[in-house]
Amino acid sequence: MTKGYKMPKDFLWGGAVAAHQLEGGWQAGGKGVSIADVMTAGRNGVPRKVTDGVKEGEVYPNHWGNDFYHRYPEDDQLFAEMGFKCFRTSIAWTRIFPNGDEAEPNEAGLKFYDDLFDDLLSHGIQPVVTLSHFEMPYHLVKAYGGFSNRKMIDFFLHFAKVVFERYQDKVKYWMTFNEINNQTAWSDPHPLLQNSGLQLGKDDNWEQAMYQAAHYELVASALAVQAGHAINPDFQIGCMVAMCPIYPLTAKPADIMMAERAMQKRYWFGDVHCLGEYPKWLPKYFERKGFDMDITAADLATLKAGTVDYVGFSYYMSFVTKGHDGDSDYDFKEPDDFVDNPYVEKSDWGWQIDPTGLRYAMNWMQDRWHLPQFIVENGFGAYDKKEADGSVHDDYRISYFRDHILAMEEAVALDGVDLIGYTPWGCIDLVSASTGEMAKRYGFIYVDADDDGHGSFDRSKKDSFDWFQKVIASDGEDL
Ligand code: BG6
Repeated sequence: MTKGYKMPKDFLWGGAVAAHQLEGGWQAGGKGVSIADVMTAGRNGVPRKVTDGVKEGEVYPNHWGNDFYHRYPEDDQLFAEMGFKCFRTSIAWTRIFPNGDEAEPNEAGLKFYDDLFDDLLSHGIQPVVTLSHFEMPYHLVKAYGGFSNRKMIDFFLHFAKVVFERYQDKVKYWMTFNEINNQTAWSDPHPLLQNSGLQLGKDDNWEQAMYQAAHYELVASALAVQAGHAINPDFQIGCMVAMCPIYPLTAKPADIMMAERAMQKRYWFGDVHCLGEYPKWLPKYFERKGFDMDITAADLATLKAGTVDYVGFSYYMSFVTKGHDGDSDYDFKEPDDFVDNPYVEKSDWGWQIDPTGLRYAMNWMQDRWHLPQFIVENGFGAYDKKEADGSVHDDYRISYFRDHILAMEEAVALDGVDLIGYTPWGCIDLVSASTGEMAKRYGFIYVDADDDGHGSFDRSKKDSFDWFQKVIASDGEDL
């Protein structure tokens, strides 16, 4: 047995998912079409296509997910058996506002989450909810250009207020925008659409469009934080950043400076969320690039007044960068400026495995943002082999979790990081966000379905299920 450090009794052990990746039921109860509903299945190394609306003959894996919409009582039971204290999911915006710009919410959608949250609470599991997790109404993309349009602030805020009011006695922990900083990779259309609902043409300035959309999201988030606190002062409303620390390749000063700029470019979103202001380097960057940004004095006051209560973050991997000879601008560009890390292993999807990076990142965020943290995603996507009796011997996943949980506990016990909880990603197998595959499995619970939606969708326990149950039962000591 690896001995870990005991986490406090009220530590929130649990699991994490997102509505569009597991619910299915894409038209049930009057749900509208979301951006995830127009993404086809990709494969390892093959990107997903985005179609112009739902097209006959295409394969859209989010339409069925893992069928959680119909099976959640069975799944909640399994989560309870593992000892979950919380369950992180998102509210599919299109169940509540099918098009996104309606005045009145859809009661059937609201009822679905009432029932889900009640069922979780009956097992002693508290829901932790993300408002926007890569699933905005597709109509908002087509009719308004997504977050390129300031009007989106009002649509998002309306949605947030409706669900805050409705679930104010059932949900305490909220997050506004999932992995808001993925769009740092602005030359890739995938994160631009997932984060901001942007579909740009070749003559558009993609980088400027990303900064503008992110600004509107940050204002929307700050307004939501204020609205949420007014509805229920006990709410804890966090941001959600994808934390992948970026190391310098060597001790060469230019590599160090490039890594510093890379961190600034990936985490300024967190500076605004947590500190309520833009970091000094960014207006200078806008000026140098000639970006004419719509950032008003009223926006800046809103950002200051709507800082978050905690830092929700995902951690999967770290990255490495290096400087360019003779270039003093240090205009780090993701992913072009990433280089290989010779010291770490990778998953089958090329994701670097670096538990120490988690401890490093937690220390970095504590010193920079001075807020409690919540690890709301961490996990290992792998090919699993199901045995005839339904079991899966996923020792590789156990070993990933053991190392990462130990690093997390060291950050708490040895470094004093203030941590609320830990919810491993895809605690039950679901559709991958980047590739649309089922084959990239993260779960403690196996779901019998393939990439094309064939299979019984029956659930069975992997070896990691018993392992994580034991971890939770020992408050994190028995790894
Ligand atoms: C995060 C997202 O990017 O990582 C999840 O918040 C996503 O939605 C998870 O599923 C793992 O990524 P992937 O691409 O392997 O599903």
